[in-house]
Amino acid sequence: MSDRYLSTLEEVATLRDELSRRGEKLVLTNGVFDVLHVGHVRYLKEAAALGDALVVAINGDASVRELKGPGRPVNSAEDRAEMLCALECVDRVVVFEERRASGVIEAIRPHVYTKGGDYTPDSLIDEEKAILDRLGVEIRILSLVPGKSTSATLAKLAGDSGEKTPRIAILGSGKGSNARAIIEATGDGRLGADVAVVMSDVPGSGILEVAESCGIPALVIDPGTEKGGQLTDAALKEMLDRLKSLGVDLIACAGFMRILRDPLLSAFPGRILNIHPSLLPQYPGLNAVRRALAEGERETGCTVHLVDVGVDTGRILKQARVGIRDGDTEESLTARIHEAEHRIYAEVIAEVLGVG
Ligand code: GRF
Repeated sequence: MSDRYLSTLEEVATLRDELSRRGEKLVLTNGVFDVLHVGHVRYLKEAAALGDALVVAINGDASVRELKGPGRPVNSAEDRAEMLCALECVDRVVVFEERRASGVIEAIRPHVYTKGGDYTPDSLIDEEKAILDRLGVEIRILSLVPGKSTSATLAKLAGDSGEKTPRIAILGSGKGSNARAIIEATGDGRLGADVAVVMSDVPGSGILEVAESCGIPALVIDPGTEKGGQLTDAALKEMLDRLKSLGVDLIACAGFMRILRDPLLSAFPGRILNIHPSLLPQYPGLNAVRRALAEGERETGCTVHLVDVGVDTGRILKQARVGIRDGDTEESLTARIHEAEHRIYAEVIAEVLGVG
């Protein structure tokens, strides 16, 4: 009976009290843990070493579908729980159906809470952070194992042996700090791909200089003079021809100020990404940081999403939250959003390419 592998929140809360009485610590972590791989195992061992009992809260199947898409989870919550329970370092597994772990944290009151390395204590979801702070829980961010992920495992199973290093094109009109971050990630092994080309519609833009300084082909695309700043058909064709001849697998837009459309979009289905400085669907379009500040928001962030014909409307792949501080200016807030952008963009690209 699979229920053997699942504990109730009450059982875990009792365990927590027993541990407390003995002066011992309960460590809690949460996640999907679908298709277990060595990255999971190392992460869980590290988490377990922070206390005396490790509880893993896993997302229920419906919330995994919501978070990861209709094809997931590969393994049901019961099966995931059974596999996790077989690990020496895991003491209890609970399932939660909500998107967020706040309820689980509240019910269990762990001594230590751990999260995987794409978070910082600042980027934890506010609701969870508030509960953790109120309960006096120690928060520990553990690094993930580069190159070991469920999506990379699934890509291998799908027959993508990874023999050809995937090739990325970066499109931008501005300074190119995201381009630099992506190029650096390809250089230090966080992103197992090559940047084949950087394209810009703005001659002399910073992004072209970044490419040149990194020895990457930098191309100026003449956008033409279509009304509304649209790329002309000729410009789109030129881009598409270049991308094809360079064997590009994925396009990463980073501050590219033109709308893409067919035939480009359908030539790279699910493989054209953009990064935007807000928590979409809030503040799409121009001046997103300025508008969030003007609205008196307490938090904003950035979003990596798929590109479609709309302005910042494609499917959201990942977001990072950035708190707004008293006295923040557009510049200071933009700088912190950029840090988050530089962190998550390469990670998402790796995930999409199955090389993360
Ligand atoms: C980023 O803030 C990105 O979110 C937005 O344009 C900016 C590009 O910055 N779409 P950079 O050119 O990568 O420095």
